[in-house]
Amino acid sequence: MPIDLERRGAIAIVTMNRPEALNAFDHEQLRLISETFEEIAGDGSIRCVILTGAGDRAFAAGADIKEMKDLDGEGGLAFGRLGHRATRSVEQLPQPVIAAVNGFALGGGCELALAADIRLASENAVFAQPEVSLGIPPGWGGSQRLPRLIGPGLASEMILSGRRVKAEEALRIGLVNSVWPLAELMPKAIQLAETIAANSPLAVRSAKQLIGLAFNGQTIDGLDTEARAFGAAFTTGDQREGMTAFVEKRTANFADPS
Ligand code: COA
Repeated sequence: MPIDLERRGAIAIVTMNRPEALNAFDHEQLRLISETFEEIAGDGSIRCVILTGAGDRAFAAGADIKEMKDLDGEGGLAFGRLGHRATRSVEQLPQPVIAAVNGFALGGGCELALAADIRLASENAVFAQPEVSLGIPPGWGGSQRLPRLIGPGLASEMILSGRRVKAEEALRIGLVNSVWPLAELMPKAIQLAETIAANSPLAVRSAKQLIGLAFNGQTIDGLDTEARAFGAAFTTGDQREGMTAFVEKRTANFADPS
């Protein structure tokens, strides 16, 4: 399955499992993420969730560029909305979600990690929002959640340059809570999940909701605007050029805007 769900007592481990594409999300995988989290939301016996990627190279390398390349404006908007449904299903889950980021977290992979409550990373983790190099803006919440987490200056640098941020820097700028050798990442995530799961589930749910209230009013408006901008990008030549260049393994040649 492209999304695996494993139970360990009161903890659920959700694994994005498409390692041949570094766990990049196609439509099916995105839909399954939402459905998996929506199922977990209704299961009171699950008290904490860990989200991670299969293999030792990637959490998720973002949206599937090969699939996304040929979308038109309407398709881009629909794909963006599907991405928002997935990231919202993580953010809105009543139970806390820990992202165990075990390698590349690029584009939508970074955005999914941003929707989690807590991020732990392995030493080989790499974060980036490289969408502008593909001719589109971030489309699954990154334009809203990244500035909220690390501040507008650092978020602007990451989003406008597409620059990659390694684990050590991610820790310094508050993008992740802690960094571990790859082999220790899951044990640490499970240990933290068990600590959370041992607390009052009602109080934990209430606390998660309250923390969300600190920011979410503004974010919801921003997310809607982001979805429209993401869809509109799929009517541009830059999107076609950026994604074709990725598939053809060459540098994109973007024209000046008129
Ligand atoms: N969409 C589709 N396929 C992807 C992908 C993505 N986002 N990211 C990686 N893949 C595929 C590659 O095309 C390759 O498949 P192939 O062997 O059939 O060509 C496979 O996964 C392995 O990736 P590869 O690029 O060969 O590995 P690498 O170690 O040289 O580079 C990355 C790894 C993650 C740096 C590079 O794959 C990359 O930049 N991916 C795109 C990331 C991105 O821009 N994501 C945001 C999308 S909005």
